[in-house]
Amino acid sequence: MNARAANEHGRKLYYATCASCHDDGDSTPLATRSELMLNSALWYPWPNNFVLTVLNGVGGPGDAPGPIMPPLRNALSDRDILAIGDYLRQSRLNRPTWPVERYQVDRLRRATSPPQ
Ligand code: HEC
Repeated sequence: MNARAANEHGRKLYYATCASCHDDGDSTPLATRSELMLNSALWYPWPNNFVLTVLNGVGGPGDAPGPIMPPLRNALSDRDILAIGDYLRQSRLNRPTWPVERYQVDRLRRATSPPQ
C-alpha cells in the first residue's frame, strides 16, 4: 500500500471510529469533542502514547469520573492504528508520519493486553 492509499485508509477509519467523539476537521472547537491536534500524544516524535490510548481507551472503572474513551484494541488492527495516527499528524499537524513499523504497535498491544 503506498503512502497516499494508507492516508485515505486512515482518514476513513478516523471518521468511522473516532470523529463521533473527537473533532470533525471543522474549525470550530466544541467543548464536548476533544481537538486531537491539541493533544500532546500526536505531537510526540514517537507514537507510544497515541497507540496506547487507542488500544486501551481512557478512564473507566477505578478512574476518576469523567468522559470515557472505550478500548479499541479489538476494533482496529496495528496497521489501522498507525494509519489513523499518520492521517491525523499529516492533516491536523502537518507533521511527517511516525517512523515506526507495525511490529512496534504489536509489542505495545501485547504488553498491555488484559488477562484472559
Ligand atoms: C466514545 C467516545 C470516543 C471515541 C469513539 C474515541 N475517543 Fe479518544 N477520547 C475520548 C475521551 C472522552 C478522551 C479523554 C478526554 C480528552 O482527552 O479530551 C479521549 C482521549 C483521546 C486521546 C488523548 C489521550 C491522552 O492521554 O491525552 C487521543 C490521542 C484519542 N482520544 C484518540 C482517539 C482516536 C484515534 C480514536 C479513534 C480510533 C478515538 N480517540 C475514539 C473519547 C473517545
